[in-house]
Amino acid sequence: MSGELVPDVNIGLVGHVDHGKTTLVSGITGQWTDRHSEEIKRGISIRLGYADATIYKCTDCEGQESYSTTEECKNCGGKCEPYRTISFVDAPGHETLMATMLSGSALMDGAMLVIAANEKCPQPQTKEHLMALELVGIKNIIIVQNKIDVVSQEQALAHYKQIKKFVKGTIAENAPVIPVSAQKGINIGALLSAIDEYIPSPKRNPSDDPLMLVARSFDINKPGCSWRDVKGGVIGGSLTHGIFLEGDEIEIRPGRKVEAENQIHWEPITTKVTTINAGTKKVPEATPGGLLGIGTKLDPAITKSDALAGQVAGHPGKLPPVWDKLSFSVSLMERVVGADDEFTIEPLRHKEPLMLSVGTAVTVGVVINTKKDIVEVVLKRPVCVSVGSRIAISRMVGGRWRLIGMGTLVE
Ligand code: GTP
Repeated sequence: MSGELVPDVNIGLVGHVDHGKTTLVSGITGQWTDRHSEEIKRGISIRLGYADATIYKCTDCEGQESYSTTEECKNCGGKCEPYRTISFVDAPGHETLMATMLSGSALMDGAMLVIAANEKCPQPQTKEHLMALELVGIKNIIIVQNKIDVVSQEQALAHYKQIKKFVKGTIAENAPVIPVSAQKGINIGALLSAIDEYIPSPKRNPSDDPLMLVARSFDINKPGCSWRDVKGGVIGGSLTHGIFLEGDEIEIRPGRKVEAENQIHWEPITTKVTTINAGTKKVPEATPGGLLGIGTKLDPAITKSDALAGQVAGHPGKLPPVWDKLSFSVSLMERVVGADDEFTIEPLRHKEPLMLSVGTAVTVGVVINTKKDIVEVVLKRPVCVSVGSRIAISRMVGGRWRLIGMGTLVE
């Protein structure tokens, strides 16, 4: 359900496949984030989903009972006031979709790690996603112990102890653990109250140059619609700082791939903001935090099927540089997690392929230089990013990209 407020914080849903992330978003927002036919068919999330929710508060009740997802208080039946609007970023939990999870993590101001109570904790992607939050630097975490409707009280308690043991010594050591049933709507008030307490909306400076991380892009026209009704391409994502106004000129980088005389280069795209949607609400101004849909004058063929995902948008001439080679300092983890067998992580090797996640961009590259702890990688697809940014590094292990460490971009 969407309310009268504009979202100003993005909360990620992360965790192992089928632990109930999409069901939880639907329980809170009334919207299913799995919308693609393939997702519905296979029952798993494939792309990043997003949905907004307004949290309401009852003026007569207190504590957890005062929180609600609707205007009617479930506790006293009285009227609730809209209190805070949140955008949820629903990351897929399947191990093959780690790149999507990583690109989603760039948008998250905080995260809920969803752990199903009817499976032993931790499962592989419970571990790998927590490690990703740690590497990306997401500190505001809530652990959601889901599916408590299918376990006994003793089993829930034993599972809680497994969770506490698993998070000891990690970034989530002191995170609250909230038992819920996403499907049956049990204890959602306690979860909303924890969101309020542990995931505040970050302070941002609206006078900074705007920078939008593009996570999705769309052609919103129905097949066969008349050319008169064709709407321009839409980019979806979040502003990390600054504001966009309707009518603003914007630049998108790295832009469009151009092949000429056997040479490939990337040309920035410039266009105009025609409409701004914050969640389901049309607004004249886009502000940081919360997920945005920006309508443009672009040919929808350029934006269809997430073609611009991973790019960056801002005012012309004000964006960070575009790099086709990255040099970064590296800090590797000790062990690969996320697979049934855990391997020791060896140092990076010359000529080895790596998958790098920078902001919402995911790119593949080959190591061409390893000096002390600075590594140089030539990229297949360039990225637009500022010096000092964090880069999540994945290596191919057992036929899958596995997260192995973090880098920081140097000049
Ligand atoms: P991916 O996005 O594919 O990683 O999965 P997910 O974590 O989003 O899981 P999803 O919400 O699709 O739920 C997986 C299955 O668990 C579905 O069949 C849900 O109906 C079921 N489920 C989710 N939450 C609960 C719950 O609280 N109780 C019970 N009994 N089943 C639940």
